[in-house]
Amino acid sequence: MPFTFQNSDLLPGQNYIAGTWLPARDGRILLVSDPATGEVFASVPDSGAHDARAAVDAAHAAFKAWRKVPAKQRAQIIKRWNDLIVAHTQDLGRLISSEQGKPLAEGTGEVAYAASYVEWFAEEATRADGAVIPAPVPGRRMFALREPVGVVAAVTPWNFPAAMIARKIAPALAAGCTVVCKPAEDTPLTSLALVKLAEEAGVPPGVLNIVTASRERAADVVDVWLDDARVRKITFTGSTPVGKHLARRSADTLKKLSLELGGNAPFIVFDDADLDAAVQGLMAAKFRNGGQTCVCPNRIYVQDGVHDAFVEKLAAQVAALKVGPATDPASQIGPMINARAVDKIERHVQDAVRQGARIVTGGTRLRPEGKDGACYYAPTVLTNVTAAMDCSCEETFGPIAPLTRFTDEAEVVEAANATPFGLAAYFYSRDVRRIWRLADALETGIVGVNEGALAAEAAPFGGVKDSGYGREGSRHGLEEYMHIKYVCQGQLD
Ligand code: SIN
Repeated sequence: MPFTFQNSDLLPGQNYIAGTWLPARDGRILLVSDPATGEVFASVPDSGAHDARAAVDAAHAAFKAWRKVPAKQRAQIIKRWNDLIVAHTQDLGRLISSEQGKPLAEGTGEVAYAASYVEWFAEEATRADGAVIPAPVPGRRMFALREPVGVVAAVTPWNFPAAMIARKIAPALAAGCTVVCKPAEDTPLTSLALVKLAEEAGVPPGVLNIVTASRERAADVVDVWLDDARVRKITFTGSTPVGKHLARRSADTLKKLSLELGGNAPFIVFDDADLDAAVQGLMAAKFRNGGQTCVCPNRIYVQDGVHDAFVEKLAAQVAALKVGPATDPASQIGPMINARAVDKIERHVQDAVRQGARIVTGGTRLRPEGKDGACYYAPTVLTNVTAAMDCSCEETFGPIAPLTRFTDEAEVVEAANATPFGLAAYFYSRDVRRIWRLADALETGIVGVNEGALAAEAAPFGGVKDSGYGREGSRHGLEEYMHIKYVCQGQLD
């Protein structure tokens, strides 16, 4: 274990189905390793189709009663879940850092971030009201009632193992839905711990079910859910190809979908920007979680007049970042999630250099402490980056800041939008007219203006184009788990 835990109950190491902790039916296991060292430190079930079906049976059976639980009572249970998450911040933070690799300060920060969604949706549960519609004819009363969609399948990513579960499961439970969940194979432990706390908080058996599975068997689990008409909604965060596959495969049962998919965020610095604020904003947005976030700036455009000064200020800060394991309190950038991730980063940097980019700092794999299996990459700044390079077209998901020089606003807006993706965009400027021009012109679901840290439980998070659809967080995040039923009563006069 990379860390020691105060409460070992948070490591159940089993699936949770119909209120019971269980191994996979065929007894297979999935090993969990520390990305800093490659050392295996835990195991969870490697589930298959039978386990997935059992989870849906349980969620379907529990739905009838859970949807009828008064919203206030559901809210109290979810609020207790929030309180337990907060009370276990240190252990949960260590768990996140152990399996995902982010520095411990970020691990515990993610717990607070996750809890903020749980608390928010506990409160929203009691506000899921409908509407009384003025009737166009006498003797009628017309209503729009909001109802839970039913069983929800949540398929969650490894980069925020607590926060992504929280912002999918909390609104589902608040709406009165029941849930089956499959966390990412790299980070199953945090999700099991969160489900353990949900059990303790009083979420009734069958309302929340979780099965873990390896990359090889993930499709066995998810296919069962895609084919089962009792599953009424899929909520997924992950890659665009997988999101499109889920959309195609759920067409036969016409499930509702929320897809939070890949990004390729532009970050634009204009000549009139506050340069120090822009550097700080980029450091926060780009190097959070070692660059492994969907909203990370992936293409950085800097206007001629400030380009060289910006590069100098940025490079000084990037070169000073301390890379190391989560167990070292000084670490600011942890290991990447696995060797495949580092291979992709390396490929992007090599391709950029081959096509004429210049490495200002970084640009190498790292092996702090000389340990085999360590998945580190040096925080890197590249200049002279062009649209043809892989790092401009694909999401790198690593600590690489690729900079492109630009001259005028129209040119940079066109470049920023020249991607199939549309999750987040950022820009720095002090010109109020330009600010609103760009906020309108950028084709993304999220825009940061003079701000690098955008996510918040009260804000709608989600994309457009190939970055998916649906919103998480905010009041819109609850709507994703509800549908509207129109009720018309006649003969009233
Ligand atoms: C993500 O990378 O998918 C989520 C990032 C965030 O919540 O800010």
